[in-house]
Amino acid sequence: MSQTNTIDLDKQYDVSGDLYAEVIHGLSQQPRSVPPKFFYDEVGSRLFEAICETEEYYPTRTEMAILQENLDEIVAHIGPDCVLVEPGCGSIQKVRQLIEAAKPHTYVPMDISGDYLQEVAKQLVADYPEVKVHPAVIDYTKPIMLPSTPKAARKIAFFPGSSIGNFTPEDAVDFLTNIAAMVGHGGGLLIGVDLKKEPAILSAAYNDAAGVTAQFNLNLLTRINTDLGANFDLENFNHHAFYNEHEGRVEMHLISDADQQVHINGTKFDIAEGESIHTENSYKYTIKEFHDLARQAGFTPSTVWTDTNELFSIHFLENIE
Ligand code: AVJ
Repeated sequence: MSQTNTIDLDKQYDVSGDLYAEVIHGLSQQPRSVPPKFFYDEVGSRLFEAICETEEYYPTRTEMAILQENLDEIVAHIGPDCVLVEPGCGSIQKVRQLIEAAKPHTYVPMDISGDYLQEVAKQLVADYPEVKVHPAVIDYTKPIMLPSTPKAARKIAFFPGSSIGNFTPEDAVDFLTNIAAMVGHGGGLLIGVDLKKEPAILSAAYNDAAGVTAQFNLNLLTRINTDLGANFDLENFNHHAFYNEHEGRVEMHLISDADQQVHINGTKFDIAEGESIHTENSYKYTIKEFHDLARQAGFTPSTVWTDTNELFSIHFLENIE
């Protein structure tokens, strides 16, 4: 079968417009920051996949195992013939188990990277000819529109990987509120949430010995250089990641090694030695803390599944209020 056809993408978002404005805005703040959604250009998406394969980064393999071990029960919660929506679907490795077992009527993969999504959609159509596929390019930090899908079908959102950890708890409530509205009354959300644990384990997960996470972090500057014609010198920045126990989050930063000036399309930034660019937060929650967040968003917590070491959790939440 020919794999060269393109699939119609519902283009709700174009990253090229936002990148410039948001990078200039973030770098002008004190402390300086760049939103983590910009990690995921082609190279960044590949590097993230490589992180997931490192020994130290437990979330991906732990979540996969929890899914696998509880698949029957999870599928019983979802029910047959649903519309399955996945904001930030990435490589769709995890959803394959769900698609195969729950047999959704329609699958709506959503991602910020249109090129990546196009590839993913082609694979899906080839692998699951019986499932309708409606890919949409979105930025899930903004309100999401669901492409038109069968009205009667139960809508289930899937948000694995603890991507929820990139939001502050306040923004997480707003995001979950949007998701509850999107799935509507009777709908549900299956969501992966990384659990609070010993700081040493967390620190190792974001400081893998092979330096893949460092490469991933630094690639943000490469991307800004390439896409915005900036002149970040990667030699002058160092990856720094640690668990901030007070905030309950892992923080990633790029620390300047020198006093330096960076140009982005005519805008100059003077960055001092030791100064940080904050690139990511990854919040960790206890089960109780996450249930409280979910309730604030109007969801009713149903079942939660974890691994025996309690590293990671998968929650099923229902919109039944
Ligand atoms: C994709 C946001 C869940 O926070 O663990 C992995 C991204 N950053 N290593 C995470 C990430 C560094 C990841 N999320």
